[in-house]
Amino acid sequence: MQPLVFLALAAALHRVSGQALSAADVSTVTADLAEGAKLSWELGTRAQSLLELYVPDFSVFSSTALPPPTSVPSNTTSAIAPVFSIAHNVVSALKNTTAQPEALVNGDGAAGDPASIGVAVLLANWTGQGAADGLDYAAAARNQLDYLLDVVPRTSDGAISHRAAQVQLWSDSVYMVPPFLAYYGVLTGNTTLINEAYNQIKLYRNYLRDPKTDNLWKHILLGNDTSDSANDEGHWSTGNGWAAAGMLRVLATMKNSPYSKTFSNQQKDLASWVKEIHTAMFANLDSTNIFTNYADQPINTTGMFYDTASTSLLASTVYRVSLLWNDHSHLPNAEKCRQALFASGPSGTSSSSSPSSAPASATSPAASPSATVAPLTDLSHFTNDGWLTPVVNPHQFGIQGQDSPEGQAFVLSLQAAYSEWVAGGSVGANAGRRTVTSTTAGWVWLGSAMLGGILAFA
Ligand SMILES: *[C@@H]1O[C@H](CO)[C@@H](O)[C@H](O)[C@H]1NC(C)=O
Ligand SMILES: *[C@@H]1O[C@H](CO)[C@@H](O)[C@H](O)[C@H]1NC(C)=O
Ligand SMILES: *[C@@H]1O[C@H](CO)[C@@H](O)[C@H](O)[C@H]1NC(C)=O
Ligand SMILES: *[C@@H]1O[C@H](CO)[C@@H](O)[C@H](O)[C@H]1NC(C)=O
Ligand SMILES: *[C@@H]1O[C@H](CO)[C@@H](O)[C@H](O)[C@H]1NC(C)=O
Ligand SMILES: *[C@@H]1O[C@H](CO)[C@@H](O)[C@H](O)[C@H]1NC(C)=O
Repeated sequence: MQPLVFLALAAALHRVSGQALSAADVSTVTADLAEGAKLSWELGTRAQSLLELYVPDFSVFSSTALPPPTSVPSNTTSAIAPVFSIAHNVVSALKNTTAQPEALVNGDGAAGDPASIGVAVLLANWTGQGAADGLDYAAAARNQLDYLLDVVPRTSDGAISHRAAQVQLWSDSVYMVPPFLAYYGVLTGNTTLINEAYNQIKLYRNYLRDPKTDNLWKHILLGNDTSDSANDEGHWSTGNGWAAAGMLRVLATMKNSPYSKTFSNQQKDLASWVKEIHTAMFANLDSTNIFTNYADQPINTTGMFYDTASTSLLASTVYRVSLLWNDHSHLPNAEKCRQALFASGPSGTSSSSSPSSAPASATSPAASPSATVAPLTDLSHFTNDGWLTPVVNPHQFGIQGQDSPEGQAFVLSLQAAYSEWVAGGSVGANAGRRTVTSTTAGWVWLGSAMLGGILAFA
């Protein structure tokens, strides 16, 4: 079948069923992400979401055993190409890949964020990309590891700081660092590293979990240098999402590896800590089914706004925990969020008139989206250009922004997890809500999304 026929079919199903993204919609979101992701963690998050949606066999969530295949099948090369291109660009920009502790990219003061690109670099090494482009991916990954383990400051009990210039713990770090440590450990057969991924999460949870709010995680603690970065004791919704998603990536890396039995207790802990965040977060969801930027602060709080980015990320983790761990407790909540996020209606416009301000060190913002991508005109939480809205400013977490690259990545992660859940029979959905038709639509969607994604990069 021609790709265009697939796209048309998916679009038709979209209009009939509502509350779903068509393959064309997803291609537009993917293209926006490609254009917008510039900073360290945006590149790492983009790579991860592309693997989840377009190259599931090479994602840690695949039930096919880790480590992944050492060569890329010919029918997968174009889908994985953007991931390798992130790794290639990062590693080719490194001046010196002889042995020395060194982050993969400039983290703008963050010690943890550059490690988010580590999985893409390890995958490039593992599948022999260096033979084609002459780059030493293994050395770059090694240097990134040594930087984290030997250079970055730590708390007295060993938690690796998220900042380079002071000891400061951010919930964000759980997505950036432990998944890299665990993946490195599995690919090199180093169980100490796999355990360290778990240990770091455990330490971060000890500091950031707030029993006073029924276990929401605080955002940023322990810093003492506001000229570097101030603390944020608020319960930032995206931070809770980063923590849950990072824990699930480590859980999946353990579970799908040869070391699953060795780490069975750690997996149980991780699953229960993800559920703990879900229980805390969903208790704060109001009738819009979109989280506020700080989940426990109602929308009428001064300066508060709704944030579809964190809502997408958290919903994605609910489908993931259902697929990975057969825990379906929060699926009705995730379904409500997903339906709100993908609801039909006039295309959304961002209510913020000023564009997101990037940090001084950031490269200039991307130009307007390419004219070749299809406009989204019928989804209320997406602009015509395909950007999720409303969203927190991804470079200034207290205020509303526009055009969030990480938000686009979270949509892809949500689409990936949701589609797999539908393809697997929507296990755990409320009785009577799922039908055979929606399952079929999910399968068709999956096929067309693959082609749509490939076209977006052609
Ligand atoms: C690629 O081909 C293999 C073997 O023919 C098949 O199992 C796999 O599903 C294909 N993958 C994709 C992404 O089409
Ligand atoms: C690269 O790093 C190594 C180890 O620190 C050092 O000995 C060497 O001089 C460096 N090379 C360049 C070109 O900077
Ligand atoms: C890089 O890939 C090689 C070959 O597959 C593997 O032996 C080695 O352990 C890998 N190194 C890292 C750091 O993953
Ligand atoms: C801030 O914390 C660092 C450790 O992160 C410590 O070395 C330094 O002395 C502290 N500075 C102040 C002013 O407390
Ligand atoms: C595992 O990795 C750590 C950190 O690089 C290293 O110190 C240790 O020797 C490794 N263990 C094995 C068994 O290779
Ligand atoms: C804000 O909304 C909550 C209900 O979510 C209500 O209890 C509270 O009184 C409101 N506060 C203000 C200042 O309007």
